[in-house]
Amino acid sequence: MKLLVTGGAGFIGSNFVYYMLEKYPEYDITVLDKLTYAGNYDTLQPLESNPHFRFVRADIADREAVFRLFEESGFDTVVNFAAESHVDRSIEDPGIFLRTNILGTQVLMDACRAFGVGRFHQVGTDEVYGDLPLDRPDLFFTEDMPLTASSPYSASKASADLLALAYHRTYGLPVTISRCSNNYGPYHFPEKLIPLMIINALNDKPLPVYGTGENVRDWLYVRDHCSAIDLVIHNGRVGEVYNIGGHNERTNLAVVKAILKHLGKPESLITFVGDRKGHDLRYAIDPTKIHNELGWLPETRFEDGLKLTIDWYLDNKDWWEKIVSGEYMEYYDRMYSNR
Ligand code: NAD
Ligand code: TYD
Repeated sequence: MKLLVTGGAGFIGSNFVYYMLEKYPEYDITVLDKLTYAGNYDTLQPLESNPHFRFVRADIADREAVFRLFEESGFDTVVNFAAESHVDRSIEDPGIFLRTNILGTQVLMDACRAFGVGRFHQVGTDEVYGDLPLDRPDLFFTEDMPLTASSPYSASKASADLLALAYHRTYGLPVTISRCSNNYGPYHFPEKLIPLMIINALNDKPLPVYGTGENVRDWLYVRDHCSAIDLVIHNGRVGEVYNIGGHNERTNLAVVKAILKHLGKPESLITFVGDRKGHDLRYAIDPTKIHNELGWLPETRFEDGLKLTIDWYLDNKDWWEKIVSGEYMEYYDRMYSNR
């Protein structure tokens, strides 16, 4: 199997590369990544000596570079993780989200058509379903729900999903799509809730909780997301969408308190700050389809996954201390100083 993983220097993509090389050591994996602020080559560096691994720095929206790579590589399967992924940044500056997340996906699918790739898998998000009310715990996202994105990020991801389904229907491109809930785990960029709170707590800095902290997210340990994508690319039905989630709903406040408790830090570090514009209230996935069709089940309980994650950040300070400087600090000041 010749596999192309785009965005493989980011959080979930890199976890997926490690997962796949461990499970299928004979697969040839190429990572294509632009190395934006969110991409980190350090994460993949230990794989340099593996003859089944190759890294190519390129932009998925660069048609010439993408077509050249496809022509020389003969990929069987493409898994597209590459994206601008942070909601707050999309509120600040939507343009790059449309370019990478929509046009980049188009370029990849055009290359898949041109070079007869056997499967294009689009890594999507549950945010394309909009949000659910807080007072209806009986409601969950199912695959057949209409797409009603709230942020420029989720609108760009919804557009990419629709384009992928259109390429399947119009050109017969063998497409699958997965839509996952919030992930957490190793190599998570520190701008996102869980790593940001771990790192701020370790540094005895305020923990900025948006609004009242009552918003609910449905958390999945990243390795469980990887195992689901593995099943979908091997056994999923072409033209289908699969929701991925493990019924792990928590309010943001509960997540932040759990982190503080684990680290033995005081709750007085919690600081309520101005709310995110258009802040989605609740995400909650119904994973019945992927369970019934492909037998997928998550393996990691939230409490165990959170402990693994916190321990990873404690053991890998080198990885994140390099990031939490320079451009990241400028972003942090812009985002949080007058909130
Ligand atoms: P991330 O921001 O950590 O990583 C994104 C990666 O894509 C980075 O390595 C970056 O350099 C690369 N990239 C960005 N623009 C690129 C371009 N134009 N060309 C090539 N590479 C480019 O994101 P993540 O959290 O790992 O998310 C990966 C995918 O999973 C995204 O498509 C995201 O929408 C989706 N997703 C994420 C979550 C989550 O909780 N993080 C949940 C569901 C779905
Ligand atoms: P985030 O990790 O950005 O993921 P998403 O917006 O894709 O769900 O945020 C998760 C939740 O945490 C979301 O409700 C916003 C909230 N949040 C805070 O309260 N404070 C923060 O500093 C951040 C980054 C997020």
